[in-house]
Amino acid sequence: MKDEVREEAYAKLNLTLDVTGKRSDGYHEMLMVMQTVSLADTITLKRTEGRGISAVCNFRYIPTDRRNLAVRAAELFCSERGIPESGVQIVIKKNIPVGAGMAGGSADAAAVLRGMNRLFEAGMNRKELEALAGQVGSDVAFCVAGGTALARGRGEALLDLDPMPDCCIVVCKPGFSISTPELFQKLDQIHLRRHPDTAGMQAAITEGDLRGCTMRMYNVFEEVPDRRMRTVAEIKSAMLDFGALGAIMTGTGSAVFGVYQDAGTAEKCAAELSREYKFCSVVRPIKRLSI
Ligand code: C5P
Repeated sequence: MKDEVREEAYAKLNLTLDVTGKRSDGYHEMLMVMQTVSLADTITLKRTEGRGISAVCNFRYIPTDRRNLAVRAAELFCSERGIPESGVQIVIKKNIPVGAGMAGGSADAAAVLRGMNRLFEAGMNRKELEALAGQVGSDVAFCVAGGTALARGRGEALLDLDPMPDCCIVVCKPGFSISTPELFQKLDQIHLRRHPDTAGMQAAITEGDLRGCTMRMYNVFEEVPDRRMRTVAEIKSAMLDFGALGAIMTGTGSAVFGVYQDAGTAEKCAAELSREYKFCSVVRPIKRLSI
């Protein structure tokens, strides 16, 4: 039996994000093409002498109690598998910016589920882990295996897509964060004028057509009237000026990403943007994990 396991918790970006309706449970009906990227937190799970789940994190302001999705995922795993007596410490090393729309908290929770599965040699398959993940949060199911996928429903109904064409991606997050429920509320008050061409994006991915992908990147949350979207628009136009094939906000923001064909142009863009913005990183698409 293992005493310790380590998992990478990869961030996601939205190549498209559409909201197609409001559900009777208060959630929104989503249609999004999701992509895992190489920026990752690391999750280490350690068996402890005591009982219950505890967590520590290198970012002091991140809660380490039940408000943290990683803790909720571990508790859910233990209650589902009938191992309530177990003591596990979750060590979270965060690299993914918080409040960025990159599913950092969800990625941590998904990594905890994969890690608990290995630590307790539970032998759960991908579908079983995704079903548990869907109970923890809307984006957690996608983060279990990641890669390139179409997400529907709350975000938990997944259809695997081919890997997106290889490229370099600059991710830039301004100093502020945006609250997800707040942006959904603001979205409810407007009529969306445009929707992404999700089917066209799927076709471009299948054909391995990077330009076809970048010309179809679109996020309906950018339409929300919010003065912070001005900063988002500024970062997008800077990325395009620096040679991006396309640039959009991810999820409910505040991070923006631009897609580049070559590493040199992407590095140059990141170096320029990092003079003005707090977080800037060059990442690459990651393929689906096999579980
Ligand atoms: O499921 P999760 O806890 O990640 O969602 C956070 C919040 O985002 C929800 O409380 C809800 O306000 C909003 N949300 C939504 N529709 C979705 C996903 C999230 O309205 N499909």
